[in-house]
Amino acid sequence: MDVGYTAAHLRAAAVDAVRAPSLHNTQPWRLRLRDGGIEVLVDQARRLPATDPSGWGVRIGCGAALFNLRVALAVAGVPARVRLRPDPAEPDLLARLVPDVPRRPTPTEQRLHAAIPRRFSNRMPFWPDPVPADARWRLGEAARAEDCWLELLVGVSAVAAFGEIAHSAHRVLERDPAYRAEREEWLRREPAPDGVPASAGGPQGEPQDVLPTRGFGGRDRAPGRDFEPEPLVGVLGSVGNTAVDQVVAGQALQRLLLTATDAGLSVSLLSQPIEVPTAREQLRLSLGRFGTPQMVLRIGYGQPGRPTPRRPVDEVLELPVMPA
Ligand SMILES: Cc1cc2nc3c(=O)[nH]c(=O)nc-3n(C[C@H](O)[C@H](O)[C@H](O)COP(=O)(O)O)c2cc1C
Repeated sequence: MDVGYTAAHLRAAAVDAVRAPSLHNTQPWRLRLRDGGIEVLVDQARRLPATDPSGWGVRIGCGAALFNLRVALAVAGVPARVRLRPDPAEPDLLARLVPDVPRRPTPTEQRLHAAIPRRFSNRMPFWPDPVPADARWRLGEAARAEDCWLELLVGVSAVAAFGEIAHSAHRVLERDPAYRAEREEWLRREPAPDGVPASAGGPQGEPQDVLPTRGFGGRDRAPGRDFEPEPLVGVLGSVGNTAVDQVVAGQALQRLLLTATDAGLSVSLLSQPIEVPTAREQLRLSLGRFGTPQMVLRIGYGQPGRPTPRRPVDEVLELPVMPA
């Protein structure tokens, strides 16, 4: 394609882009059409200053939206070439996509694309059934395909050791009133186009839980309704921890989530041990891996659920003004 992307390309792909996960469902992205390129930018007004002081969370969420964009454009027959952070003078500009040589979408792209509207964070307890080896392998491949790694914690003691790190990070965060206020501010008890619906928040955490929950919703649990005793926990990591590495990790996260959805698996995200620097370092050391943990995933077979709401696409688009 020698001409650039059009408003029609962007509009169609944006419907998929905004389905990406984001911290507290803040949807902190803007999508701009400029000089035939589609650009992904941070919406600073939607960053959470207490929960995400460094902007790591917005870059992960925008990276996930970028992955959806790439897949949507590929499936539409107009695949993209991507440059990350193309302009040092504009740090909020995370990526610029320009049309690459047209080609047919691959079967993998088609499957990942079909999974976009079906994916959601499932915070309910999962069935105890183990995740089979071939699905685990596919998840690892998804991370590697996006230049990241996935470490699956194997065995009760590895998960319990991780649980301790995660619980201590959770306690650190809970001591901060500004962090608690942000969670409350983005919890939605009435229908809304953003924030976490109380119905999606999952059950309230209890002391016996192996992993902490973020505490959205706060529905009480009936006795005996515990989480799976041996959850499959995956740690997604990147080679470095620059802003670009975090956008790369966001893309890898989304590829992983869509691969899991395609394999019939459910996932919930758990980022407390990433948000607390000492916990993140402890986690990194415990894995003995080169690189930086960027997200933790709980993976398993879940009950059916529903995707959460998004703002209308027009709210995130910035299109050139047409001459009259
Ligand atoms: C950077 C990042 C961190 C997140 N951390 C958590 C978390 O610690 N606990 C949690 O339950 N969900 C977490 N989420 C999931 C979001 O709350 C979820 O994506 C958002 O509410 C939209 O819902 P959806 O994933 O069902 O589309 C995180 C998402 C992102 C992108």
